[in-house]
Amino acid sequence: MSKEKKERLLIKANKAIKENRDKVENDYYRLRYHVMAPVGWLNDPNGFIQFNGEYHLCHQFNPVYPEDKLIYWGHYKSKDLVHWEELPIALTPSEWYETHGCYSGSAFDNDGVLTLMYTGNVKDEEGNRETYQCLAITEDGINFEKLGPVIENQPQGYTRHFRDPKVWKKDGVWYMVIGTQTVDLAGRVLLYKSNNSKEWQLVGEVVGSQLGDFGYMWECPDLFELGDKDVLLFLPQGVEAKGHLYNNIYQAGYVVGELDYETGIMEHGDFKELDRGFDFYAAQTTIDDKGRRIMIAWMGLPEEDENYAERENAWIHCMTIPRVLELSEDKQLIQKPIQELKTLRENYRAYSNIVINNQEIELEGISGDVVELIVEFEIEDIEEFGIKVRCSAENNEETVISYNLADNKISLDRDKSGVGVKGIRQCYLEDNNNLKLHLFLDRSSLELFVNDGREVFSSRIYPKKDSRSIKFFAIGGSVNLRKIEKWDL
Ligand code: FRU
Repeated sequence: MSKEKKERLLIKANKAIKENRDKVENDYYRLRYHVMAPVGWLNDPNGFIQFNGEYHLCHQFNPVYPEDKLIYWGHYKSKDLVHWEELPIALTPSEWYETHGCYSGSAFDNDGVLTLMYTGNVKDEEGNRETYQCLAITEDGINFEKLGPVIENQPQGYTRHFRDPKVWKKDGVWYMVIGTQTVDLAGRVLLYKSNNSKEWQLVGEVVGSQLGDFGYMWECPDLFELGDKDVLLFLPQGVEAKGHLYNNIYQAGYVVGELDYETGIMEHGDFKELDRGFDFYAAQTTIDDKGRRIMIAWMGLPEEDENYAERENAWIHCMTIPRVLELSEDKQLIQKPIQELKTLRENYRAYSNIVINNQEIELEGISGDVVELIVEFEIEDIEEFGIKVRCSAENNEETVISYNLADNKISLDRDKSGVGVKGIRQCYLEDNNNLKLHLFLDRSSLELFVNDGREVFSSRIYPKKDSRSIKFFAIGGSVNLRKIEKWDL
C-alpha cells in the first residue's frame, strides 16, 4: 500500500517540478547564489551535514504548492556550499506515521551511515495531531530507506506539538533536542539521550521557566558547543513585540550558557534575536571538517505567503547564504558569510576616502542587483548616514540602510522596496567611530552584515529589474567613506 502511495505522490511531485520548471527559471526574482526549491514551496533547512566530503542540505518542500500542504524533503548537495546539485526528493510522506508531512529534522553520521531523524506529522479529520520521531538511512546519499518511528508518545505534560529533532553525539552518547509546548501552552525544548540512536530516554527540559512567559510553542531547536559554551537556537512563537524587538510573526533567537547533560538544564544568559531583518526563521547548523559551525536559515516566515511576490510564479522562498558562527567575548553570536562565496566575485571596483557632506552621491561602477558590497564609514560630525540600494527614480524604488547617531540605531527600510513589502526593522549598535556594512544582494534578497557580523539583517525585496543604483548619503554633517569595495557575484 505505502509503496503505491509513495509512487503516486512522487509522480505528482515530479510532474509539478517538470511542468513549472521553465516558468520558475524565467522569473527575474529567482536568486543566483542562494538555495531555493526547484519549484513550489520551501521552508526549513533540514538534514544539513557534511558527509564523505560533501555538504548535504535538505529542505521542507511542497512541490505542488499552493494546491495542497503536503510536505516532502527536497535534497541538494554541494562540495563548496556555493554550487548546489539538485538531487531526487529524499523523503515522501507515504507512511501511516507521516500522512500529513515529513516535518523538519536533522542528519547525523551513525558510524558511517548517513542517517536522518525527522518528525512524521499526522492529522485526523478533526485536525487532531499525532507526531512521531522517525529514522531514515541512506547507503548512496540519494535514496533513503525509512526505519519508522523511534518516539511514538509524548511525555506527560506536553502536547503533540512535538517536533524538529536535532541529533548530535557527545562522549559516545547520542543526544537530541525537540521543540515542544506544555499542556499549559508554554514553549519548551526537551533533551533526550540514547546509546544506539533507536531507543531514546528523556533527560529533561533544556530551557524551561527561566525565560518566564516566552511564547506558546518553541520550534526547531539546535544545540551545539561553540568555544567553551553551549548555544541553543530556537524559535519561540507567541512572543509580543517590544519596541524594535520581536517584530516578525515568529521569532528566531538563541541563548548562551552551559548545558548539564545529566539533568538537561542549561544555565544561560538572555534571549537574543539571531537576525534583525524581516525574513529569517528555522536556522539549522552543522560542523564541518574545518571545524566551522555553519548555519543556514530559511529566509522567510510561516503564514505570510502574500509578502513573497514569487508565489505568482509557482515558487516561494529561499535559504540564507551559509554563515559561520563565532562567539564574541561578550557572548554574542557573530555571523560571517562563508569564505567560499569569494569564488563568485567578479568586476571588482573600489574607492577610498570619499567625504560626503549633506549630500547623496553615486559612484561609477557601483550598482547592480547581484552584488557584494563592503563599505567602511568613518563617522565624523553627523546626524544620519547610510546606503540606498536597488534605487530607481523612475520606479520610485529604493531600499534604505541608515545609521542614526541620535539614538545609535541602524535601520533597514523597505517601504519602497517593490512589490508587496514595506516596513522598517531596527537595532541598536554600540557607540563607535566606525561602521562597517557588508551587503549581499541577490535579485530579490538582501543580507546585511553589520560590524563584521555582530548584527545581521536578512530580507526579501522585490524591486524592478532596472532598479539597480546604489547611493551613499549623509544628513546633518559629514561622513568619510573610508573604503568601498564592490563585486558582481
Ligand atoms: C517551522 C516548522 C517546523 C515544522 C515544519 C513544517 O517552520 O513549522 O516546526 O517541522 O516547519 O513544515
